[in-house]
Amino acid sequence: MEENKIINPNLEDFEEENIEKSLRPQKLDEYIGQDKVKENMKIYIEAAKKRGEALDHVLLYGPPGLGKTTLSNIIANEMESNIKITSGPAIEKPGDLASILTNLSENDVLFIDEIHRLNRNVEEILYPALEDFSLDIMIGKGPTAKSIRLDLPKFTLIGATTKAGMLTTPLRDRFGIVNRLELYTVEQLEIIVKRSSIILGCKIEDKAATEIARRSRGTPRIANRILKRVIDYAQVLGDGDITLKIAKTALNRLEIDELGLDEIDRKMLETMIFNFKGGPVGIETIATTIGEEPDTIEDVYEPYLIQIGFLSRTLRGRVVLKPAYQHLGIEYNEE
Ligand SMILES: Nc1ncnc2c1ncn2[C@@H]1O[C@H](COP(=O)(O)OP(=O)(O)O)[C@@H](O)[C@H]1O
Ligand SMILES: [Mg+2]
Repeated sequence: MEENKIINPNLEDFEEENIEKSLRPQKLDEYIGQDKVKENMKIYIEAAKKRGEALDHVLLYGPPGLGKTTLSNIIANEMESNIKITSGPAIEKPGDLASILTNLSENDVLFIDEIHRLNRNVEEILYPALEDFSLDIMIGKGPTAKSIRLDLPKFTLIGATTKAGMLTTPLRDRFGIVNRLELYTVEQLEIIVKRSSIILGCKIEDKAATEIARRSRGTPRIANRILKRVIDYAQVLGDGDITLKIAKTALNRLEIDELGLDEIDRKMLETMIFNFKGGPVGIETIATTIGEEPDTIEDVYEPYLIQIGFLSRTLRGRVVLKPAYQHLGIEYNEE
C-alpha cells in the first residue's frame, strides 16, 4: 500500500507533518505557480494594509495537496496578522464557534479547513459574524430567553475546501475573494522539487528533478513525498546525491509510472474498460467495483486523469478516453 500512500494526499502522518512544515513557503514570492491567484492576492493584501483594515474573507478551493493550507498561512504572514487554525469537523457545536470568534483580535485570520463539513447550525452563527462582525447568542431558556448581539473584532475568514460545490450558497456568497487552485505544471513542480531538495540538504540532478516532477500528477505534496522516498534510496544506494538513475529506480519500485499513475489509477481505468466497456459508468459503481471511497476517487484520482485527457465526465457518468487505452496498451475500438 506504499504507493497508495504516496498518491493519496489525504493520508497524513506525524513525520510528514513536520517535513511539510519545513518545506512550506512563508512568503508569497516563494509560493511557486498559481500566478493569477498570487497576483490578485498581492493587490488585495496591499490594499487592505493601506486602508489598515482586515482583508476580505477568502475561499480557497481545489484538490488536496495543491497548497491551500500553505497559502492561508502566507496570507496571514503577508498581512502581519495572527492565524487561528481549525477545521469544519472540529467545530461541533455553535458554542465552539462562538468561543473561537470571541477570542479573535482585530485583523486576525481564522482558517477553517474543510469548510464544506461545517454543521448547518454552526454555519448559521457564521453568517452575521462574516457580514456584520457580530454574534447573536441566546441567554437563558424557555419564554424568558432573549437574544443578545455581541460585536466581534474585524477578522478575515479563510476557508479551504476540496469541494466548493458542497458549500451552501449563503456561505459561498459571504466570501469576497474566491480562488481556485489549479494543478501545477511540470516546470513549476521541478522548481518545487529543487527548492525542497535544498531545504532537505540534498543535491539533485536537473534531470532527476524533472523526472520526479513529471510523475507527481500536478501536486506539490506528491512531489515532496516522492522526493523524500528518493532521498532514502539515494542515501542507501548512493552517496546521498539524487541522480536520474536513482530517481527512476525509486519511482519504479514505488510503482508510479511514467505519467504518475499508480496501481489504483490503472485498476480503475482497466475496470472501466473491461467491465463497463469504457463507460459511461457512475462514480459510485466504479468505487464499489474497485473497493475505494467515491470521495477519494473524485478528489484524488479523477482530477489528474481528467487533466491528462484519460477520463471525461459526462452527465451519464465517467468515460475512458483513447489516450488511456494507448497508455495501458489496450486496443481501442471506435464506438
Ligand atoms: N505553491 C507552492 N510552492 C511550493 N510548495 C508548495 C506550494 N503549494 C504547496 N506546496 C507544498 O506542498 C505541501 C502541501 O501543501 P498544502 O498547503 O498542505 O496543501 P493543501 O492544504 O491544499 O492540501 C506543502 O507542505 C508545501 O511544501
Ligand atoms: Mg490543507
